[in-house]
Amino acid sequence: MQPIAWQISLVLMALVAFGFAFVAINSGRRQEDYSPLQKSAYRLRSRLFWGLVLVFGPAMIYTLFELPYDAARANTGAGPVQVVDATGYQWRWELSQDHVAVGQPVEFRVTSADVNHGFGIYDANLHLVAQTQAMPGYTNTLRHTFSEEGTYKILCMEYCGLAHHNMLTEIRVGAQ
Ligand code: CUA
Repeated sequence: MQPIAWQISLVLMALVAFGFAFVAINSGRRQEDYSPLQKSAYRLRSRLFWGLVLVFGPAMIYTLFELPYDAARANTGAGPVQVVDATGYQWRWELSQDHVAVGQPVEFRVTSADVNHGFGIYDANLHLVAQTQAMPGYTNTLRHTFSEEGTYKILCMEYCGLAHHNMLTEIRVGAQ
């Protein structure tokens, strides 16, 4: 540890010890009557509760009308859905195709052949655009419509062993 670090931690420990001592010394004193304060706090709490119910109840019902969200989103792009099967292995990805059309919905069906992996799609600036988990025995469906052409990277997002960092591939998004 750096000298300054142990000095800071010593000061912090002293402050904590002082806090404990303060509470211990004051705990013996008689308590004042808090019941009026308690009553008004309960009143405030119940008003707050019903206020939240009034605001979020209708908001929740309103948003439920858009269910199921995924199906609604998948149909927004023009053209048919492009299906890409993606399987994770220690330590590589296998895609049924490595290029898709821009502006058309893509359905990634993601699974794993061994352990849990994270399936993350990144754009050229390495910003995450979509992700799901790759799990053995399950197929997770990830729908995404690429709005820009380019080469996207697929990286593993979950530590899965020694060569986890090497688990990457690319998918090209081009003209229709
Ligand atoms: Cu696969 Cu990390």
